[in-house]
Formats: sequence, C-alpha cells, structure tokens
Amino acid sequence: MKFSDHHIQSPLAMIDRTCQVCHRESEETLRNNVYERQRKANEIRNRLEQELAKVHIEAKYAWEKGATEAQMQEALKLIRQAQWRWDFAVASHGASFHAPQEIQRILGHGLDKAMQARLTVSKVLAKNGFVGEVPMPDISTKEKAQKYIGLDMKTEHENKEKFLKTIVPRWLEKAKANGRLVTT
Ligand code: HEC
Repeated sequence: MKFSDHHIQSPLAMIDRTCQVCHRESEETLRNNVYERQRKANEIRNRLEQELAKVHIEAKYAWEKGATEAQMQEALKLIRQAQWRWDFAVASHGASFHAPQEIQRILGHGLDKAMQARLTVSKVLAKNGFVGEVPMPDISTKEKAQKYIGLDMKTEHENKEKFLKTIVPRWLEKAKANGRLVTT
C-alpha cells in the first residue's frame, strides 16, 4: 500500500500508517528503535560539535597571534574536513536512523579530523610563541553562543515574524488554488 499526504511530519507521529505498513513489531518497539539509533549517533555528534567549536576559536586565536596563511593551511583543511562530516551527518536528519552504521562512521572520522585540527593549530600557535590553553569564551547557552558570534537576534526574530506574516500565507494560498493542499 502506498501512503502519502502533504501534511509532512515525522513518520513516528503515525506509525500505524508508516512503519507498520511493512513491519509487524509494536509501535513502542519501532519508536524505541529509532530513538536508540538517534541517541547513539548523537553521542558522537555532541563530542564532534564541542571539538569543532573549540578548534574554530583556537584558529581565530592563531590568526590573532600572527599565524600566516602557509602555517594555517593544514589546519584549515582539517577543519573543513571535520565540518563537512558534521554537515553530512547532521543536516540529513534521517541518516542516524536509516544508515546508523555509516553515519556513526562519518561522525567518528569527523571527530578524528577535529582532534587532528586542534593539534595542528596548537603547533602553529607554538611557532608563533604561544604555548598553553587558548582562552575559551562562555558559550554554555544558545543565547551566549549567539552573542559571541555576533548574531543580532532581535533583527533575526523580526525578519522571521515578517516572513511568516507575509510570504507564508501567499504560499498557502497558491497551494490551495492549485489543489496541492489538503484542507481537513
Ligand atoms: C516499505 C516498507 C518499510 C517501511 C515503510 C519501513 N520499513 Fe523498516 N525495514 C524494511 C525492510 C525491508 C528492512 C530490512 C529488513 C532486513 O534486512 O532484514 C527494514 C529494516 C528495519 C530495521 C532494521 C532491523 C534490523 O534488524 O536491523 C528497523 C529498526 C526498521 N526497519 C524500523 C522501521 C521504522 C521505525 C519504520 C517507520 C519509521 C520503518 N522501518 C519503515 C521495510 C520497511
């Protein structure tokens, strides 16, 4: 049986019409299986995010201490490689469930690249006369991190409000007119 509708939401919101079209396990078993896979991938994702944030801040510090393009080349390459692996694993959203082994492999390599990058930056810092711990900003909450990277959240929120009030209703109208929106 093909199941499809345009009220896109999580397949877990109606397991009887999604997973159980094919699977005979209980809803609880199916749901827990998804959560278990996501939790395992998130363990590595969370570690990778911490190291990625640190290495970006350390790289900035190295530039400030006078690091040259040539000195930074290897570190920048490693940071990009780590960042791409994070993007690939996290932006896909469903991958932690649909391809758990592959995504944990990618995240594992991302973590390795991020650690290599940190090591490389510390060598660059040493060449420029700095040894020790790079001072870390307080980014312990989302708000503090947003402030640190200079996001103007007031403007961001205002723009989002405007988008929701002006653009989205136009899209909905168009979809309804074209019979693409089921109104139940
Ligand atoms: C179109 C049919 C279909 C749908 C819909 C479907 N699956 Fe599957 N699922 C399969 C098939 C086929 C396999 C592979 C079975 C195998 O290789 O033994 C599988 C494998 C799995 C496995 C891996 C089992 C194992 O031993 O590794 C899990 C877990 C799973 N599905 C959960 C779900 C959940 C949760 C949903 C709903 C979100 C879902 N599936 C939706 C067909 C489906």
